[in-house]
Amino acid sequence: MPINFNAKENRHTYVGRDAQQEWYDLIQKLVEPRNKEIADIGCGGGIYSLAWIKMGVKKITCIDFSQQMLADVAENTHGLSNVMIKQGDALCTGLPDSSQDIVFERALIHHITQENRTTCFAEAQRLLRSGGMYIILKPNVGRTMLKSLMD
Ligand SMILES: C[S@@+](CC[C@H](N)C(=O)[O-])C[C@H]1O[C@@H](n2cnc3c(N)ncnc32)[C@H](O)[C@@H]1O
Repeated sequence: MPINFNAKENRHTYVGRDAQQEWYDLIQKLVEPRNKEIADIGCGGGIYSLAWIKMGVKKITCIDFSQQMLADVAENTHGLSNVMIKQGDALCTGLPDSSQDIVFERALIHHITQENRTTCFAEAQRLLRSGGMYIILKPNVGRTMLKSLMD
């Protein structure tokens, strides 16, 4: 049965732990995060948003369609001035064109139906600046799908 991300009982499901060292190692190989603007789409409670901040990003925009997850991310990132939190759908985030250096989606793709995936990818491409990078991770970081949209 699919998880209801808006359910109160799922509060704090995606908080309270740090990203794995394997994740930090992978990101370091892929990209230089310092001074980058990042959209973390399907951010959940913000575990990876916080990890990006630790890596020195300039600004992170946390997007999720669940109010419950956004309440968690607000709690988790309280007091951080370079975090923006916005309710939005991965298919239509409402963020401006060409506004991000990196679009990051971890453990989101399996929640997007096959028929909606092209729209999801097109939305990420719309958000990226020239030379930006689209990173899609399945929950198991070892099975990385990466779409690089380098010009
Ligand atoms: C498995 S959780 C992953 C959370 C976080 N990325 C992580 O890795 O810890 C999936 C998240 O994607 C969100 N989500 C699912 N479908 C979405 C959609 N179409 N648009 C925005 N968020 C979505 C859910 O609300 C949930 O917070």
